[in-house]
Amino acid sequence: MEITFIGHAGFCFETEKSIIITDPWLSAFGAFDSAWFQFPQNHDMAAVIQNKFLHSKKNKYIYISHEHKDHFDLDFLMSLQSRDFELIIPNFRRNALYAALKSYDCKKIHCCSDAEVITLSDGSLRLYLDDSELNRDSALLINAGGFTALNMNDCKLYDRLIAILRENGKIDVFTCQFSGATWHPTCYDYSEEQYTTISTKKMMTKFESVARAIHNVSPRVYIPSAGPACFLDPDLFHLNTEPVNIFPFAPKFIEFLKKRLPKIPVCEMMPGDVLDLASCELTTKKSDRVTDENRLTYLTQYAQQYERYFADRKAASLRDIDSVFDRLREQLQLKLKNMQLAKRIQSPLYISFSDDAEKSLKIDFKSDSIEKSTFDGSEDHYQMMAPSWEIARVLDGHLTWEDFSLTFRMKLSRAPDVYQPLVQGFLILEPEDLDAYCNMVLRVESRSERILVETAHGRFAIDRYCPHQGGDLKCAWIEEERYITCPRHRWQFDLLNNGKCLTNNSSVNAMALDEDTPVMASLSVVPRLVRGIQKAFDAALDPADKPRDDEM
Ligand code: FES
Repeated sequence: MEITFIGHAGFCFETEKSIIITDPWLSAFGAFDSAWFQFPQNHDMAAVIQNKFLHSKKNKYIYISHEHKDHFDLDFLMSLQSRDFELIIPNFRRNALYAALKSYDCKKIHCCSDAEVITLSDGSLRLYLDDSELNRDSALLINAGGFTALNMNDCKLYDRLIAILRENGKIDVFTCQFSGATWHPTCYDYSEEQYTTISTKKMMTKFESVARAIHNVSPRVYIPSAGPACFLDPDLFHLNTEPVNIFPFAPKFIEFLKKRLPKIPVCEMMPGDVLDLASCELTTKKSDRVTDENRLTYLTQYAQQYERYFADRKAASLRDIDSVFDRLREQLQLKLKNMQLAKRIQSPLYISFSDDAEKSLKIDFKSDSIEKSTFDGSEDHYQMMAPSWEIARVLDGHLTWEDFSLTFRMKLSRAPDVYQPLVQGFLILEPEDLDAYCNMVLRVESRSERILVETAHGRFAIDRYCPHQGGDLKCAWIEEERYITCPRHRWQFDLLNNGKCLTNNSSVNAMALDEDTPVMASLSVVPRLVRGIQKAFDAALDPADKPRDDEM
């Protein structure tokens, strides 16, 4: 098998009989309203794929992992002249990806459920789905030409890796994201010191969870992929150059891995590089490589290509602010109506225009009301300020609210500084998806299975499933003998404080066990043993210790 790196999460896996392209993101105008651009630049790879598709007689496939625009580049798909290929997409509850592609003219469209297999002439493909409303993503397992590759891109199925390996055996090549991609702490109103502290922690815990995933997979080679993007808009360019943030470049992670997993080979690929899996050698190696030394010059020149584009956009971005404001209020009213758990949100949310201080809305979840109101900073709150023209892009249907959150063109603040999943859901989900999201929250809350954890401080019974999005804590790890860390998004729970979450007020309801309680097992416990003790634990749990609804 030969693997050509297309850039970002894009690869071309090629065997004697098959060509499988993953997540080709090649648009010249990046993604998320041109907030993100491919790093390193890969636009020339569009012609490479076009040629391959035009001239190769092999069976051809394109896989799109999820709807984020740095993975789903509709403009590129529409530009393909030869449609002699099969398209593979995940079948999510929210079917926006399928809806956008169902009339796409190609050989066949496979809309796959979790663990569904597609047979190739020389092997198979299998999709694994993470469909948890706030996150929607998939991973692809390729078994072809005698090799196996697991392309996890930015899918967070860390807690399923052991089962995936058990099902499929040895993985030759593993690729997944090592950098972050959220508006926290990127857009939050933090001091420089707070920003650095939070960013460092997020970066290091992400490094650690990816290292654990690599360790579990133990591939012949790991390829860093799926980020970070770069930021060429003059208003965002600083994100490329901050000393610490959640967008570390590959060399930093590779340095970390050298110490953490010295025996696992890592291959940093530039777009156009070709890796031969039999020898694990790069058979084509691009001469113009981006390194720590030349990166700033490279990015500066890259940004210069778009100076005129961003200047023109700025000039054209003036809008009828009054009408955008009215439409925003209507959209928020619809969101509020669809949010069955809204009353759990204690503090008001303010959404304000950064280009007109008069335009500010207060969403009071408790009283189910939305009023024009300027934030005076005197109460517990959540606040988002964004330019009216970017909000108009959402209201006009060019961006989803989630796309909008990834433009990083907003400022957020909150007091207290505590993550509230329901506010996050309200902000980044479409009105029609809020009901399904609330149902997912209720589903996670209703799961009652318990597991046993052993540390130097003793043994504890905890909830098996993470209150965030249901990550399986049987695959968690323990830090400092007291913090259970969920492998999916790395929330931590303090065993010595009743299992309380360090991120917010949720909990895994840790209960210390008496010394004379028989040792059943540790975190790697088999479920059969856990179930055996579950009833006793639940009976012993004082109802007063159970979290109140508003803490979840
Ligand atoms: S599922 Fe997100 S941190 Fe556990």
